Amino acid sequence: MPLRAPSAPRLRRRALLGGLGACLAAPLLPGPARGTALPPRPETVPGRRHDWHFLARERGARLLGPDGPESRVWTYTDDVLPVLRIRIGDSIRAVLENRLPEHTTIHWHGLRVPNAMDGVPYVTQPPVGPGQSFTYEFTPPDTGTFFLHPHCNEPGQVGRGMAAVLVVEGDEPEPSDADIVLAVKDWRLAGDGGWLPFDTPQGAGRAGTFGTRRAVNGAARFAADVPAHGDIRLRLVNLDATRTLLAGVEGAEAFVIATDGNPVPPFPLDKWRLGAAMRLDILVRAPAAGQGFTVFDYATREPWPIGRFTAAPSAKRERPFAPRGLYAATLPRPDLDAAERLPFAFSASLGASGDVAGLPPDDPFAKILMDGLCVGSRTFWAINKSTWPSGDHRQLPPPLAELKAGRSYIFELHNTTPHPHPIHLHGHSFEVLSLSRQEGAPRFTADTVLLQARERAEIAFVAAPGNWMFHCHVLEHLETGMMGWLRVT
Ligand code: C2O
Ligand code: CU
Repeated sequence: MPLRAPSAPRLRRRALLGGLGACLAAPLLPGPARGTALPPRPETVPGRRHDWHFLARERGARLLGPDGPESRVWTYTDDVLPVLRIRIGDSIRAVLENRLPEHTTIHWHGLRVPNAMDGVPYVTQPPVGPGQSFTYEFTPPDTGTFFLHPHCNEPGQVGRGMAAVLVVEGDEPEPSDADIVLAVKDWRLAGDGGWLPFDTPQGAGRAGTFGTRRAVNGAARFAADVPAHGDIRLRLVNLDATRTLLAGVEGAEAFVIATDGNPVPPFPLDKWRLGAAMRLDILVRAPAAGQGFTVFDYATREPWPIGRFTAAPSAKRERPFAPRGLYAATLPRPDLDAAERLPFAFSASLGASGDVAGLPPDDPFAKILMDGLCVGSRTFWAINKSTWPSGDHRQLPPPLAELKAGRSYIFELHNTTPHPHPIHLHGHSFEVLSLSRQEGAPRFTADTVLLQARERAEIAFVAAPGNWMFHCHVLEHLETGMMGWLRVT
């Protein structure tokens, strides 16, 4: 089995497991033992109701800087990549009014919403056509860092800016001294502010089509002052269509406190990979006044500064830094001994063609059919050899699996390709039990797990009722086959 060269202390255990046969994904990720360390969250009391009106339409924004040309973004509000904050116990009533030229929806990524609120056209709701509205109403059950985006023409809609960050507060036993969202998302812009094609065959069939301008919170750079010696909570959100980040901090000590919004017993941040759609909450102890620290993306040849921070004088004193962590998540805990195991292979598609009704992809009628389906004309990828869609319009392909609500499952994921695939399951958070290419990562909970080239992983969860999408979050990959759904009854 192609494991990376193990670090010395693990050599014996690895060598031993390697001999047991290729069916083993990887040793279980080491502790913390499940449920240790984190204090329980106080009982949730009903809070207020947030009435939001999202007017999805084209707007102008200067993405290339205040003196640059205007770009035509598609957004939910007058802000590009707005951050919405609520408290645990609050409820949401969000009206989506669609003034875009094509249909859309809102998917609440990572939130365990009732299935009918999940925002997947044809699967959980009819698509919201131009001029139509849809109302989403639910009470988020978990704290954390989430985001929302359409589930339709994702490269084109998210590419033009259709996304927002949603923070559900109420997970901090001791309040942090600052709470800052860093949403990473590149823009695919030409120099005149116009859009470049969001999907390309070269990109879709490989690691995805990258943006031309790196950006955080919509802009080319991010800098902020923070209180000296303060505890700074940073919420890293990878909103990019494609990019995998390798996040780390220079100039200050940092601990990971949540993964995809799910609290973890704090551990020191060395470097952490975030595939598309993944989030990482970290707590950084700010240095003395006048000094600074930087959050870097080390995945590129030249590390790229995601955010630069300068400590400003404050009343805080220097003291030891040992974060106690957030309140524990309140997720149903999978029973690993009783869990049923199901394998999922993520691969290139066999007969990659996927033409629509036999029409060449440049036929205008093929375009109309595809717009109705929210899928592209090409098929490059498959899950367990089936591609999305299987060819019949508006008829769902059969589910990848049928599960029983309330039962525990272990999914054995295998990326058979040389490209990374961040795999997302709707409506659930799962425990990541093993990752064949991650040495020494502590066990964590997530809604999206990054499978690096040829990597295997095991995830465990308790199934919740509904029809849930299961797909790669490289936007061009899900649009070209690497998507399916699970039926949980
Ligand atoms: Cu953010 Cu179907 O996903
Ligand atoms: Cu993928």
